[in-house]
Amino acid sequence: MTLERPLAPLRAEGVARTGDARVPRHVAIIMDGNGRWAAKRGLPRVAGHRAGAEAVRKTVRAAAEAGVEVLTLYAFSSENWRRSAEEVSDLTALMRFYLDHELASLKKEGVQLELIGEPEAFGPDLAARLQRAVESTRHNRAITLVMALNYGSRGELAKAAQTLAVKAQRGEIDPASIDEAMIGAELQTARWPELDLLIRTSGEVRLSNFLLWQAAYAELIFLDTLWPDFDAASLTAALGQYAVRQRRFGGR
Ligand code: FPP
Repeated sequence: MTLERPLAPLRAEGVARTGDARVPRHVAIIMDGNGRWAAKRGLPRVAGHRAGAEAVRKTVRAAAEAGVEVLTLYAFSSENWRRSAEEVSDLTALMRFYLDHELASLKKEGVQLELIGEPEAFGPDLAARLQRAVESTRHNRAITLVMALNYGSRGELAKAAQTLAVKAQRGEIDPASIDEAMIGAELQTARWPELDLLIRTSGEVRLSNFLLWQAAYAELIFLDTLWPDFDAASLTAALGQYAVRQRRFGGR
């Protein structure tokens, strides 16, 4: 992400950046279709993932410019370990490459990097690099980029249940007092605004264990675009669709 000018640090802590309810504060994307993009071109799957990383760069910048506060990207699911050893290794190499080559740009652009999932599973070296990147972008305010790495929503919910059960066992909480807010507070996404918009590319219409709890009232957009073809115009179009939807949150 080599940009001509830094993104303005528009966001004050805890305050909606644009104040415009038509701009989603928190957008999440299931970046699907890298493999098919590559296959269409007779290229190896890793070429699709590399092109996917380019789409990540463009999308982060476009989201920041649109006034989105938090962008959560499903980069590696807890089920992706079932892929071939070669593809897993390609994906982790790409993450390392992205960190090495993009960190300076992320800092310059005011992007705060955060992680959800269990990135420790990628080994101590990559986990430490990721953690250093999180630390070094901690004060950035143009946009928060949350990378979901070795993330699975059911696992996240099971962990939250375990934590609450331990607190109950210790007598710190009354089991009867456990409510939606307490569960939400144990999720890794607790510190960010509610998810407003979830986009999935590549024509697949499912959530694939991504942000199941958080998506309860999110608007969902499924696009046929393969992830490497997703760009600023695709994001703008999706935000346009979101802007004209009426959110009811179960009311009328
Ligand atoms: C789904 O496409 C995509 C993934 C499993 C990984 C997403 C990874 C990237 C976008 C690149 C890595 C990003 C960074 C920032 C390092 P698929 O392989 O399932 O595609 P297919 O369904 O067409 O086979």
